[in-house]
Amino acid sequence: MHDLEGLAEPGSVEAGLLKVIETAKLPKHIAVIMDGNGRWAGLRSLPRVAGHRAGMVSVREVVETSAKLGLEVLTLYAFSVENWKRPRAEVRMLMNLLKEFARRELRNIQESNVRFRVIGRAQELQPSVQRILTQAVESTRDNSGMLLQIALNYSGRAELVDATNRILLERVRNADKHPITEEQLSGCLYTAGVPDPDLLIRTSGEMRISNFLLWQIAYSEIYVTPTLWPDFRRKDLFEAIVEFQRRNRRYGGL
Ligand code: FPP
Repeated sequence: MHDLEGLAEPGSVEAGLLKVIETAKLPKHIAVIMDGNGRWAGLRSLPRVAGHRAGMVSVREVVETSAKLGLEVLTLYAFSVENWKRPRAEVRMLMNLLKEFARRELRNIQESNVRFRVIGRAQELQPSVQRILTQAVESTRDNSGMLLQIALNYSGRAELVDATNRILLERVRNADKHPITEEQLSGCLYTAGVPDPDLLIRTSGEMRISNFLLWQIAYSEIYVTPTLWPDFRRKDLFEAIVEFQRRNRRYGGL
């Protein structure tokens, strides 16, 4: 269901873009690599953490806009397994921001009828982070609108390893010798049951996948924008969708 009210001031750039967007052909699932927070801060001679905090404003706007557009799924890459290599103070700040997001944004998420979920090795996060995230997941469980997936302590390779181990265990338990199928592997990923992303957006101009949703993006359209994540606004999301709708998806066919 679309609720486009309040998404654009009459006569604005956003209104112009909204007119071009075909609501019947929206991507079902958009995944975002939110990159460029550090550079955004550096350009303003601010500490890197200021960039992450500013990035929260973009998160709020993109979540709200995606829910109003009627997307089925939005997946945001918030913290990778590799991000533990960053300075301790930055990691601590990122974890605090996530807690703040799960606590403070919960009301907005509820009002938007959004279902919240974490993908990644969440069991390895600090207990205080796990507790707050679990509360957010539990309290939005029955919402029927968009699914918001936050990738946390996430790695696409680790996800494939975890899925393979789950399959191996089941096979031993059931003395199963059938070859493994794509459906079986898909069904053991963190994203089991969720449609693959139609559109993958990466901000800050880097042409990399960075270990994100390696299996699921097999046929995703990739959109890279030079905009740094803290500057990414509704207009930028609309531009990505307009570009997506111009593409001719062939899935390997003609
Ligand atoms: C990449 O920018 C961004 C991250 C590693 C963290 C993203 C986190 C947020 C936007 C805030 C919290 C998110 C949620 C969902 C509550 P970078 O630091 O690698 O930037 P750089 O490449 O310019 O250094």
